[in-house]
Amino acid sequence: MTSSRAQVLLLSLLAALIISCAHGACTTPFSSEDAQSVFVPSDLDPALIPPEGNVPIAQLFAVGDQVYTANGTAWILTGATAELYNSRSEKVGVHFYLPQVDPKGGQPSWKTDCPPSLVTAKVVSKAQVESNSIVWALLKSTNSQGSSGLFGDVSYLQRLFTKNGLPPSFPPTEVNAIFKSPYTSFYVYYKQL
Ligand SMILES: *[C@@H]1O[C@H](CO)[C@@H](O)[C@H](O)[C@H]1NC(C)=O
Repeated sequence: MTSSRAQVLLLSLLAALIISCAHGACTTPFSSEDAQSVFVPSDLDPALIPPEGNVPIAQLFAVGDQVYTANGTAWILTGATAELYNSRSEKVGVHFYLPQVDPKGGQPSWKTDCPPSLVTAKVVSKAQVESNSIVWALLKSTNSQGSSGLFGDVSYLQRLFTKNGLPPSFPPTEVNAIFKSPYTSFYVYYKQL
């Protein structure tokens, strides 16, 4: 390859990179600011603290719904959907449930698009903090993917400072009825050192 051809190739690669950035790819990378914005109360229930060696990498604010399905006599939590925001109020990802529990027992999941990353987790402990809101919880990762993205190396996460999201106080009248209960919370993500 001649050097002018190599230059053309390099320039076109650069152009492709610039175009992909201009299209909004990865415009909200994570920085040390994200790790510094983490706030975990010092009097947190010890059951909600991950094992030693796990350090917080980010805290996101979630706005969405807890989804309950009627089984005939009770409302059962069957899913959740939420948008995830960083401390600069930029939307950086979403929270959702996998359609099926994964082989390690995980189902609730969090993902970023750019760089792409995903973590699925299972609840290991819960604490009722406010009677009119869903519990605070510690979850352990069952699967994580995409190490260049935020969630690729997540080992544990916490759901803290929950507001609302409880199922209806009345019993369901119809089997398979769905109730979406709006909630907000913070999620704190950890990785193992
Ligand atoms: C619905 O769920 C509740 C709580 O888990 C359980 O006690 C009840 O047996 C279930 N009812 C049916 C019809 O499956």
